[in-house]
Amino acid sequence: MARPQTAIIPDHCKAGIFIEADIHAGQTAQIKAACRSALAALSDLQTQFPDASLGLSIAFGSSFWQTLNHAQEGREIKPFRALGNGLAPATQHDVMIHIQSMRQDLNFALAERVLAAFGGSISVQSETHGLRLLENRGTDGFVDGTENPQGDDNVRQVGIIADGQPDAGGSYVLLQKYRHNLKKWQGIGIPDQEADVGRSKAANEEFSRDVRLTDSHLGRVNLKENGVGLKIVRRSLPYGTVSGENGLMFISYCHTLHNIEAQLLSMFGETDGQTDRLLAHLSTAVSGAYYYAPSAERLGDL
Ligand code: HEM
Repeated sequence: MARPQTAIIPDHCKAGIFIEADIHAGQTAQIKAACRSALAALSDLQTQFPDASLGLSIAFGSSFWQTLNHAQEGREIKPFRALGNGLAPATQHDVMIHIQSMRQDLNFALAERVLAAFGGSISVQSETHGLRLLENRGTDGFVDGTENPQGDDNVRQVGIIADGQPDAGGSYVLLQKYRHNLKKWQGIGIPDQEADVGRSKAANEEFSRDVRLTDSHLGRVNLKENGVGLKIVRRSLPYGTVSGENGLMFISYCHTLHNIEAQLLSMFGETDGQTDRLLAHLSTAVSGAYYYAPSAERLGDL
């Protein structure tokens, strides 16, 4: 069975680090070596801290991925384009490093080693540290992640390209940072917040389809195509400070980019002109990029 990278399947991690970087020209050999060193650093820390669910995904934007000439692998990957007349900006980079575990000290240690392995071959463009809050709630007060696929087999089925495919074990990624405006959000009151999300706040119960607004968050992302639900695996975490900027570092993985993109197009008004109510009352997308995370085997042999 092909091995996916290790920051996709484990759920309920307590903390994460999200890094995006650009790759300098002519550095392909260094990048390949850095990925092997990063996997060795991961394995070393996993051995030292076996109960921490430490995981790492290294994923590539389409322009660098295509230079590696694995033409049968990650065929859906493409650059992120701005959506909704700029409501979702495109900030595509060449490489994404996603680390998650039960401990931010361990995440930090791995990030130090991974960035040391890449050295001068990349320029880091963004680094965000995420933290799971009480009851898995966002800074907006709603529980996040409830409808994620549960159990390793289900997560694998949704998140990972199936065995038998040339890119088995791979996964498509969307990384998108959302900055919240909590003053505005608190100003609309809990009933309107619940209508925007499509779930109740305290009890976290889903509203039935007949009362749910079509432009609520659930109305936008709970999609079916030919009777089949378009599922994704979310490993997002809240980020930021209490007194200053905070929001959601959204990250999702899927065996097909199609499911992720269909939800995004629906949120940002590109299907029926309706935009997600969360974008009006809670949050602004400040980044957006697609990446392809090859299997662990391929990452060690780029
Ligand atoms: C569900 C918050 C962005 C896809 C939810 C839920 C919350 C939430 C509170 C309900 C509980 C749950 O099942 O997790 C947010 C916030 C966002 C955001 C605050 C940004 C401001 C996105 C984006 C996507 C997405 C960008 C996809 C591209 C989903 C999906 C569900 C969900 C698939 C589950 C729907 C279902 O099957 O019921 N989100 N989300 N979300 N969200 Fe988001």
